[in-house]
Amino acid sequence: MWNSITDIQGGKAARYEALLPQIRSLIAGETDMTANLANVAAAVKETFGFFWVGFYMVRPALEPGAGEELVLGPFQGPVACTRIGFGRGVCGSAWKSGRSIVVEDVEEFPGHIACSSLSRSEVVVPLKDGDNVLGVLDIDSTETGTFDEVDRKYLEMLCAIICEFGK
Ligand code: SME
Repeated sequence: MWNSITDIQGGKAARYEALLPQIRSLIAGETDMTANLANVAAAVKETFGFFWVGFYMVRPALEPGAGEELVLGPFQGPVACTRIGFGRGVCGSAWKSGRSIVVEDVEEFPGHIACSSLSRSEVVVPLKDGDNVLGVLDIDSTETGTFDEVDRKYLEMLCAIICEFGK
């Protein structure tokens, strides 16, 4: 029963351990990526209460012929920047490298894009289909040092689950 998501408690790893199977069953059978991303953003926000949880997806650039850029997708939290260039900010850097980035203090990350002045730490995990980056999961916290290797591990598992079910 999905309502039980509000009862997920315990340490960080225990919460992820409980959340991931619920997310799997929530999105299994649905192939529409937007629908799945929307529910994943809601489930993660509800479980952890993070400041901002959402996705940026690789899409054609606004300017014709300018290649691709990240465009804001489903999210939970305050209004955010809509477009992020390749290699720009934490999100664009994760896209470029194809690797997750944990930022303990956004002021220490050169080129960090401040969609909100309240954001103090951040984790960004690419959504990958093989080596191809489809988009990124971005989570922001109002405290420094919120995210660590535990978040990286479980959020990478979460993104792998998402990519199993919709493109
Ligand atoms: N801080 C991000 C931008 C997105 S917002 O945090 C929602 C970045 O540097 O890429």
